[in-house]
Amino acid sequence: MAAVKDLAQNVLGKLNIGSSGAPPKEPSAEELQALREKYTKAGQGQVFTFYDQLDTAEKATLFQQLSGFNPEHINEITNRALNPPKTESEDATPKFEPLPTSATSSVLDSKPEDLQRWYDQGLELIAENKVAVVLMAGGQGTRLGSSAPKGCFDIGLPSHKSLFQLQAERIWKVQQLAQKKHSKEEVVVPWYVMTSGPTRGPTEEFFEKHNYFGLKKDNVIIFEQGVLPCISNDGKILLESKGKVAVAPDGNGGIYQALITSSVVADMGKRGVQHVHAYCVDNCLVRVADPTFIGFSASKDVEIATKVVRKRDAKESVGLIMQRNGKPDVVEYSEISSEMAEAKDSNNKELLKFRAANIVNHYYSFRFLDSIPQWAHKLPHHVARKKIPSVNIESGETVKPEKPNGIKLEQFVFDCFPFLPMDKFACMEVRREDEFSPLKNARGTGEDDPDTSKRDIMDQGKKWVQAAGGVVTSEKEEEGVEVSPLISYGGEGLEFLKNRTIKAPAVIEKED
Ligand code: UTP
Repeated sequence: MAAVKDLAQNVLGKLNIGSSGAPPKEPSAEELQALREKYTKAGQGQVFTFYDQLDTAEKATLFQQLSGFNPEHINEITNRALNPPKTESEDATPKFEPLPTSATSSVLDSKPEDLQRWYDQGLELIAENKVAVVLMAGGQGTRLGSSAPKGCFDIGLPSHKSLFQLQAERIWKVQQLAQKKHSKEEVVVPWYVMTSGPTRGPTEEFFEKHNYFGLKKDNVIIFEQGVLPCISNDGKILLESKGKVAVAPDGNGGIYQALITSSVVADMGKRGVQHVHAYCVDNCLVRVADPTFIGFSASKDVEIATKVVRKRDAKESVGLIMQRNGKPDVVEYSEISSEMAEAKDSNNKELLKFRAANIVNHYYSFRFLDSIPQWAHKLPHHVARKKIPSVNIESGETVKPEKPNGIKLEQFVFDCFPFLPMDKFACMEVRREDEFSPLKNARGTGEDDPDTSKRDIMDQGKKWVQAAGGVVTSEKEEEGVEVSPLISYGGEGLEFLKNRTIKAPAVIEKED
């Protein structure tokens, strides 16, 4: 109930801020009194410590921000996150099993005719305007350390395209492929871009500035996930400044609530969308609205499907998709023993038994997203201990802590997997080098950084050119070719390069 109330308050809060554009109004004495009492009763009255020192606009802003939260509910989710209730099955040692073979397939060993069938089926669904894409781009990208949203980042390709542009061009291309194959006048894959408080403004500006990268503005819907207050180590809501609560996005699992409160699911319903691909902004190789994945998932008639890559070795720190007590779930590397991590597949001793590495690349049926209000309140919050700049309530000074001084509350996008029975969940293994190269770290780290992103795109392009019969020469072995998504979505359509010599590094942007 509290969650529902909070949800409603969040919506109201958002409407107040966003829609009218008018500056917030200072509350009446009664309104202020009521809100103060609510916070004081919840043991969170410290948020009003500096209220009387604020000017009118600041008072109005703080009042509005605080009205958007229910302090009792914040206390409740904080307590639950810090002391998660034990379920009955947790008393016993959890039973981990790989997903059943009926729920899995791998592009590495699927029959070519199955892959073709899924691709054709997916492309047909796209041609019927039944497919949409949701991008999770609300993260703060702290490890990368760029001040702009991650999607704006230039990974150093010869074209200098940003991650947003690469993804937009793949959507454009897959629309074209479906349109041509099925002789349609117009095919639309709506793109719902989830941002957060810190990333919304700059994301909107970037899309405007680049004219939505050739997509129609009406079909690019930028929306915002929720935020939650940051909490001190002793459970108190922190202030970022005297007139502002310190807040952080509510994790990538905030997507579910945001899809409802921002009317994204309603918009999908109006458009007749039935199949949804959701993915993370940081993967430069992501096959947005991948027809093969859509076709595979739709043919299995599941509510959720995930793409996975093969875990590199027993030691790689990745979450794994598997069954926990008979339910689909993500199991973190810290949760499994080294014996389990090293166990071999009984059918193939070359392979790890548990190898389905999670890459946060999901299929959802529209049906499932439409049912979010029935289960979203069950999603737990997790604790991330962080250094949170905040105002010292006694001295009024802002402190930049050296070590973690509080927590951010986050939901995880995969926490709803166990709500499904095993026969409503599926998993498709894809090649890492074809589909997964995340941008997490700053340049120079050597792992999951801008240079590895660039390398993986250039290597892929080179492979595609060679497979099409082109010859790639270069002074250095590692030089590759950037193939524009406007030319090729997944390596197709490059026949015009047959017997042509390309001197790498190069970028292929047009057929001539
Ligand atoms: P990460 O957990 O890797 O976070 O997000 P991040 O923000 O990119 O980077 P760090 O941890 O601050 O360095 C994985 C994906 O989930 C999205 C991110 O935008 C990224 O696509 N995400 C994360 C959200 O959409 N919202 C969130 O609240 C958190």
